[in-house]
Amino acid sequence: MVIAVIGAQWGDEGKGKIVDLLAERFDIVARYQGGHNAGHSVQIGDRSFVLHLLPSGIVHAGKTCVLGNGMVIDPKAFFEEADRLMAQGISVTPERVKVSSRAHLILPYHRALDHTSEERLGNEKVGTTLRGIGPAYEDKAGRRGIRVADALVSEVLRSRIERNLEDANRIIVAYGGQPLDADSIFDETSAMVERLAPFLCDTTHFLNQAAARGDSILLEGAQATLLDVDHGTYPFVTSSNTVIGGALIGTGLAPQHLTGVLGIVRTYTTRVGEGPFPTEMLDGEAEMGQLIRERGREYGASTGRPRRCGWFDAFATRYAAEINGFTSVALTKLDVLDALDEIKVCVGYNLDGRRCDSLPSVSQDLRRVEPIFEKLPGWKSPTLGITDLDALPPNARSYIDFLSERIGVEIGLVSTGPERSQTIVVQDSILDGWLKK
Ligand code: GDP
Ligand code: IMO
Ligand code: MG
Repeated sequence: MVIAVIGAQWGDEGKGKIVDLLAERFDIVARYQGGHNAGHSVQIGDRSFVLHLLPSGIVHAGKTCVLGNGMVIDPKAFFEEADRLMAQGISVTPERVKVSSRAHLILPYHRALDHTSEERLGNEKVGTTLRGIGPAYEDKAGRRGIRVADALVSEVLRSRIERNLEDANRIIVAYGGQPLDADSIFDETSAMVERLAPFLCDTTHFLNQAAARGDSILLEGAQATLLDVDHGTYPFVTSSNTVIGGALIGTGLAPQHLTGVLGIVRTYTTRVGEGPFPTEMLDGEAEMGQLIRERGREYGASTGRPRRCGWFDAFATRYAAEINGFTSVALTKLDVLDALDEIKVCVGYNLDGRRCDSLPSVSQDLRRVEPIFEKLPGWKSPTLGITDLDALPPNARSYIDFLSERIGVEIGLVSTGPERSQTIVVQDSILDGWLKK
């Protein structure tokens, strides 16, 4: 069984919680794209973990975790996270953590270039996490990137750093920054890559062999569909393919192994950073936005930035369902809406007086669309921690049914709190009933 878990909106839908919940059923949890721009929170009792580079499966003892070839890995961030987790009693060893030898490295000049790139864009900036993600993927596509395995060969690492830094420094200096020193980057990187060496693995072969043997694999998406570099709200996106196609490319798993795609959908929407957000609560609704932000604790798990909050966008989520072919949806954060009298759901967009057939591809158009809202009554009673569908207030059930119908996918799970146990299993077709047991 190979199941992909993919965010349907602009990230932070609660992928970490759902991956943690499902991980028990799987042998392997693998990330396939992105890097430490991700922030996936897992709460187990009074212990909480935030995973950036490592798959959320790491908190389950005995699960093998894979960092796939599609990822960009900052070795410093890797060891900071590993050390932090070890201090929390989680084992992060080469026996259970496999890093693709084909993954690309994020080096200090990528971080510096992320800063200059944002500065150059001025008002048009993306609002990146400034982790060097975009510049590392640029180098990969530009065929000058450094794969983890390349870095093990000293001469290769040194010559690539020198060559790449020559260009990077020109840009950094032009923007008033201090040039970086190739020798110190080389020394620092080679020491860390040596430490990383025992974790390296041909993860493509490893995963395909595991799937062929019948081992179960959970693919953990980072970021989300509307941040996909091809299918998202370009150019306000991340630099990788977050959608299901990216899961195959970023692991090398053959497509026939894939058995299901679980979309993670929040009962409302948030966005961190810049870019169009049609259902954002602004102006007259700013207070509502603040209420949701506080109730949902909507502050970035990576950068601490307050997340922009908005109503559920069924039109955009239906688009995400179409691209990913969601076989089921986990609907998260129902409890956050407990306090609302009335809930709005966007069911379509108008642009220049005409109803849009599909999501506008140009970000300027997406900024101009007028969302068409339907209003649903709130339920005004606590749902936090409810585990039984029948125990939900009728209006909450109607809200769930409405969203399911509008996005065109069954809801398999409803999350009613950050804890593993705070979950309703509505129907478990995706895991053949395992969750119901
Ligand atoms: P991810 O990036 O998709 O993994 O999501 P984040 O971890 O960045 O953000 C989701 C936040 O919501 C985390 O703090 C979770 O602990 C929390 N969370 C997840 N599901 C629920 C839920 O159903 N209710 C509430 N109140 N919080 C939740
Ligand atoms: P998880 O996995 C929310 C956003 C950034 C910025 C854009 C590009 O926790 O859902 P980048 O640094 O990737 O080049 O930034 O993408 N972004 C996220 N937003 N959740 C994330 O991850 C994100 N990772 C990147 O805010 O707008
Ligand atoms: Mg997050």
